[in-house]
Amino acid sequence: MNEKRVLLIVGGGIAAYKALELVRLLRKAGVAVRPILTAAGAQFVTPLSLAALAEDKVYADLFSLTDEAEMGHIELSRSADLVVVAPATADLMAKAANGLASDLASTTLLATDKPVLMAPAMNVRMWQHAATRRNLARLEADGVAFIGPDEGAMACGEYGPGRMAEPAAIFQAILALLETARPLAGKRAIVTAGPTAEPIDPVRVITNRSSGKQGYAIAAALAALGADVVLVSGPTALPTPARVKRVDVETAQEMLIACEAALPAEIAVCVAAVADWRPTTVGDVKIKKGSGGPPSIALEETPDILATLSTNQRRPRLVIGFAAETHDVEANAKAKLGRKGCDWIVANDVSVEGTMGGDANAVSIVTVAGIERWERLPKAEVARRLAARIAQEFT
Ligand code: CTP
Repeated sequence: MNEKRVLLIVGGGIAAYKALELVRLLRKAGVAVRPILTAAGAQFVTPLSLAALAEDKVYADLFSLTDEAEMGHIELSRSADLVVVAPATADLMAKAANGLASDLASTTLLATDKPVLMAPAMNVRMWQHAATRRNLARLEADGVAFIGPDEGAMACGEYGPGRMAEPAAIFQAILALLETARPLAGKRAIVTAGPTAEPIDPVRVITNRSSGKQGYAIAAALAALGADVVLVSGPTALPTPARVKRVDVETAQEMLIACEAALPAEIAVCVAAVADWRPTTVGDVKIKKGSGGPPSIALEETPDILATLSTNQRRPRLVIGFAAETHDVEANAKAKLGRKGCDWIVANDVSVEGTMGGDANAVSIVTVAGIERWERLPKAEVARRLAARIAQEFT
């Protein structure tokens, strides 16, 4: 029997009563529900109603000896196909965004390796506060899916976005996620990201302006679809996305070695802005200013990771490259597709202000079959669409 299972975290808010209807809908559809009730949530719904509707025990306490003896909280966090937070209060979002583990609900969210869906519910000003916007962006980058909030009259008397989505809508989102939750489960993906840094001497490097944001977002999006992701990253200031194995490298040569070590894989997405050239020789000592005027640095080409993976004996089934261009974007991308031997090129125009290092990207997907142009989207959204397109290739 392949019964689908949801771990439902009920936070503290007036919308908590709607969680009961959600449980009813899920049970009617044959989905098993295991509830976690926060201390604040218990002010709005009783453990007894939740347990009766869920037909399961309600978990509430991180330090319950009996619960731990039955099922440890780590096991609990992994005992479902999907974790749903409804209502997701500002407090729960803040805890999850910052990785706090101060109660059973937040600990579960930190420990889970399963996809997470949040249905936020809070006062409109709390929803619009800069802190909540930051937490939302952080959680989205970590691969958390959101439904709502809806706009409307609120229990506090104000009007605006902040009302929890209706149980029927959350129910539909859950069913969709349960169906497609992990289409890439069991598939390994290698993602390269960030710049590389090629040493000139022990203190100087040749590098570029890549932030790594797009590559990290793709790694997070693939992991959210169940892929086993190895993120081979040049130097960046970014946190490692959830459920992603990160390997830090500096040079193109190290990046290539790390990618080859991660083979075999079904998918490779080369997003890194790999330095094209490196100094031919690197001395052990710092080049001094007074040592005969500005130095001439002889350069040689770095290994092409994308081309090497595309022609590798253990070539991943789907190899995707990125082409950052400043002109003739699509023509250059088409030429690059042939030259590198990969399956798709995701082309972007980096001459558009705010693309390099910024948060949005307008990309075209170039394949032998043709070109698909996407509108300018946040990098996290480009990543999700790309991951969904990749998943299509495997279903
Ligand atoms: N790439 C790579 N290894 C390199 C250079 C590039 O894996 N040494 C990958 C990038 O990660 C990207 C793709 O190749 O996916 C295209 O990178 P780009 O720098 O645009 O290509 P180049 O071959 O350098 O072409 P050009 O400089 O002519 O634009």
